[in-house]
Parts: sequence; structure tokens; C-alpha cells
Amino acid sequence: MVKGNVVLGVTASIAIYKSLEVLSRLKKRGFNVRFALTEEAKRLISPVVFKALTNNEVYDDVMEELDLGDTNITHVSFANWADVFAIVPATANIISKVACGIADDPVSLVALATEAKKVIAPAMNSQMYLNPIIQDHLNKLKSLGWLVVEPEEGDLACNTKGIGHIASENHIADAIESCMYPDLLKGKNVVVTAGPTSESIDPVRYLTNRSSGKMGFALAKMARYMGADVTLITGKVCLDTPFGVNRIDVESTNDMLTALKKEIEKKDDLIVIMAAAIADFRPEKMESKKIKKEGNGKFTVNFVENPDVTVEIGRFAKSLGKKLRLVGFAAETHDLLENAKKKIEKKGLEFIVANDVKRDDIGFGSDFNEVIIIHRDGRMERIERSEKLKIAYEILRRLN
Ligand code: CTP
Repeated sequence: MVKGNVVLGVTASIAIYKSLEVLSRLKKRGFNVRFALTEEAKRLISPVVFKALTNNEVYDDVMEELDLGDTNITHVSFANWADVFAIVPATANIISKVACGIADDPVSLVALATEAKKVIAPAMNSQMYLNPIIQDHLNKLKSLGWLVVEPEEGDLACNTKGIGHIASENHIADAIESCMYPDLLKGKNVVVTAGPTSESIDPVRYLTNRSSGKMGFALAKMARYMGADVTLITGKVCLDTPFGVNRIDVESTNDMLTALKKEIEKKDDLIVIMAAAIADFRPEKMESKKIKKEGNGKFTVNFVENPDVTVEIGRFAKSLGKKLRLVGFAAETHDLLENAKKKIEKKGLEFIVANDVKRDDIGFGSDFNEVIIIHRDGRMERIERSEKLKIAYEILRRLN
């Protein structure tokens, strides 16, 4: 299924290779891509490469009109075709041109003509990036609705380190994908918990829950796509932080509780989505030295119950007079609906998302899920098996 049309404008930075990495991410996510190249970009990578990898015409010469099957001239045709227009990488030169309305190459021509959502990923030397002229131009683009994917600190082509290294291909692809979703959560503060919490037994061993964190990360990513201010509090997982999401790493259940309380203290109005697989028990005592085998074939650890984090933060918010909307997950192996319904009441949830963790085609570790949303009034809505990002959208649009 094609998600949308993206025109990638490419300019002549050493980070030009990134445009091809972003293309690869966009293709995997179902986007159709066309390239527009400046003269100088063409000298770094041949247009043949961009054409072969997209199966689409490349706009690389302002004096030559492409036959695109419509009556428009090329830059207008590209401009109208795009759902999103993104400049990757963006040199200081193109930033300044676009901010001033100069249109004298394929990239700046499409930039000026298009009414599509716009994204720009700068890449340049630190002094150039921090130059007030470039910062002014970027601020102007932001004020005009451009989404700027800020560069990172890193190795620069001039053999120095500093700010100016182009953002990661995943972040740029996230920024582009985010343009396809409505701003339903604009102005809202969303905290998502994800992954497993883990409880140390000794310095080398710990007890944890089965969770890849993928559902929670998809929720954080989508909440940001939908315009929310997002904090992701996560246990140990091997996942990249989504673009624009503030990430806090924690280990134990009590660490997660502490991190959540801090977020509640900071904001007056918060939506908290508890997608984390929280360890219900912790060893009574964490040994400071590695426990040695006793040689009797047995190993015994006493466990105590951890707090119910959702119940605790509900109480905490109430004691501070803060508004808190809570959404829970119910991971069940049996009596799915009955167990999930009990949890809504006990934990003070607005609704609960129930999934059957026995199935191996969804849930743990999978990119897919199938869930039932159960509301306080007993209403139930089944979301058929789909990608976790789509499930996340379905959950979040119920919170606008
Ligand atoms: N949860 C929590 N604190 C805990 C355990 C779970 O806040 N100590 C949250 C989870 O993040 C989830 C919801 O409560 O959103 C339900 O979690 P689940 O593991 O299904 O249920 P439990 O409350 O642990 O109950 P049980 O183990 O008896 O099913």
C-alpha cells in the first residue's frame, strides 16, 4: 500500500549519501519517491542512480521539461505531486535560498512552488551551521511551518567534531512520515512507558519480563507524529529513540515509578500510557557480591511485591491536584476480557488495551498486534491485526 508521495530535494553536501539511506527507509515504509537534484548534487552522484532506485523520473535540469504525463511544467508537476517535500541533505546555500524565495535550481523551484508539508535536514560545518545568518533562515523556515530535522554533534567532513552532522536516516524518515498524520494531539503532554523493568538479584543477574518495547515505542513515535509533546520512559530494549521524543532509561519498577512522578510534578495535565511490562516482584535483597553456587543443586531467592505503578501515580497526581488520564495494557494468557475489565476499575484507567500474549503471530517481539480496547462503560472495540504503528494511531486518536 502506498502511503504517500515524497519529493526528496538533494543538494551537494558530503552527506549526500544520506538521501539514498532515507530513500531506502521511505520505500520500506510504503512511500513513492521522486528526486530533484541541484547541478552540484548531480556532480557528486549521477541522476542515473536516483532514477534506477526509484523507477521515477529525476528532475535535475531547469532547462529541460520532463514528460510526466500531465500538462504542467516540471517544477509545478513535482510540486503538485508531493504530499511531502524534503530537502536531504540541505546545504547552507539551499537553506538561504529557500528562506529568501530564490528559485533558480530544481530543488529551490519545487520548494517555492509546492503546497506540500515541508521537511529540511541541514548538514554542514559547525561554524556555518551556527552562523546567525543560517540560524535566522532556519528560524524563518520553522515559522513558515517547515519541520527542521536538527543536525547532531558528530564527525564532520572537515575532520573536526561538532554540531552539523546530518540527523540519522531513521529520524529524517520519521519526520517525513509524521507529515502524513493529523495533529490530533497538538498541545497535549503524553508519557509512554515501554519495555520491561528488571530487578537485580546480584551484580550479574536480574529478573525481568518478556517485552521487546516495540508497542510502547510505536505509541511514542505516533504520539509525536500526532503533535504531542512526548516523553518515553523505557526499560532495557534494543530500539532507536523515535524522532523528537524525550527518552528516559530506567531499570527497576521503582525507578520507573520515580521517573513518572517527576513527569507528573513537571506538568499540570498529562496523558500516561502504561505499555511497559512491569516486574511485579523484586528480590527481597539485592546482593552486593555475585552469589556463588552452594553445590546442593538448589538456589532460592525470596521475592517481595513491587508497587502497582499505575495505582501509585494515580494517587500521586490526585495528591498534587494534577489532571492525569491513564491508559493501561493488559497482557493476558487466559480470560482476557474478564481480567482486563477488572484492571480498568482497580487502576483508574480511561480504557485498557487488552492483548492475548499466547498468540505468536502478534504481541511480544512482533511488529504486529491485534487488540481489544475496553472502555469504562464496558464498550469494546476490536482493532484487527495490523502494524503496531497503526494500532498506536487507533489507540491515540481516542485520546484527542
Ligand atoms: N502495571 C503497573 N504496575 C505493576 C504491574 C503492571 O502499573 N506493578 C501496569 C502495566 O504497565 C499495564 C497494566 O498495569 O498497563 C496491567 O499490567 P498486567 O501485567 O497485565 O497486570 P498486573 O497489574 O501486573 O496484574 P496481574 O499480574 O495480576 O495480571
